[in-house]
Amino acid sequence: MPIQKSCTVVEAVRLNAFAYSFTLEAEGMTPEGPDQFVHVKCGHSRLLRRPISICDWEENLLRIVFEVRGEGTEWLSRRKAGDRLDVLGPLGRGFRMDREGRYLLVGGGIGVPPMLGCAKWTAERSTAVLGFRSADRAMLSKDFQKSCKEIFLCSDDGSIGRHGFVDAQVRDILEKDKDFTAVLACGPKPMLKNVAAVAAGFGVPCQVSMEERMACGVGACLGCAIQMADGTMQHVCKDGPVFDAGEVDWNV
Ligand SMILES: Cc1cc2nc3c(=O)[nH]c(=O)nc-3n(C[C@H](O)[C@H](O)[C@H](O)COP(=O)(O)OP(=O)(O)OC[C@H]3O[C@@H](n4cnc5c(N)ncnc54)[C@H](O)[C@@H]3O)c2cc1C
Ligand code: FES
Repeated sequence: MPIQKSCTVVEAVRLNAFAYSFTLEAEGMTPEGPDQFVHVKCGHSRLLRRPISICDWEENLLRIVFEVRGEGTEWLSRRKAGDRLDVLGPLGRGFRMDREGRYLLVGGGIGVPPMLGCAKWTAERSTAVLGFRSADRAMLSKDFQKSCKEIFLCSDDGSIGRHGFVDAQVRDILEKDKDFTAVLACGPKPMLKNVAAVAAGFGVPCQVSMEERMACGVGACLGCAIQMADGTMQHVCKDGPVFDAGEVDWNV
């Protein structure tokens, strides 16, 4: 059940030139599982909150990791330990995971942080493929190493890991071993579309976490509606952000 409360920033760490990791004291906001999100009010004058995935959690603490994109996240990046944030959460439906499962986790850019929650959920049984634009944007690889059986890094410019997009790495992995419970992916829509196509080609179930601009975050404003393959519309904030890849209309 989502609650709204003022949360203290317990720790604020800069991960690289673009990304920050905040640990929040957030009693009562423990998520049901990986990739639910919180809606964070960014500044007093801004009406809209900003959705950020829950990257990790423990007891009363939530960890969020975000990159600075615009005004809201820039404001957020200037918060320090001891500051308080107005937070609404946990929101949305995350990945449907079996604790005993073995998953192929695929994250791209700011889609990487929520996959850490999935890695921890399956305690070193899962494999992660993490894609970044370039080495200076890489983050959290040590955290993934601790929580995964194996990790693979990729970058668009070849400055870290394999040169190229994550879907090529996913294809290579599934060619050798397709005995995964599911492929779980979070990142930009073109990446999700390609990963979903590769998983479908190998007959492996796939869930994707969709990103849409959000307003209310609770299904009340239609701001985040997306078109589904069956012609219906669904709210990313309430029905998602995670959907089965086969449910999504990839052609819009
Ligand atoms: C369910 C969900 C979970 C998310 N989790 C994370 C996370 O864990 N870490 C993280 O860094 N970011 C995450 N995001 C994206 C984050 O919400 C946006 O980067 C943020 O809202 C941008 O706000 P801003 O005021 O800084 O930028 P704005 O000034 O609002 O926008 C700056 C730029 O970012 C683009 N943008 C804004 N919102 C989105 C969005 N939702 N999706 C794609 N592009 C957007 C705009 O088109 C614009 O080009 C998530 C988004 C969703 C929907
Ligand atoms: S953001 Fe308002 S309905 Fe999803």
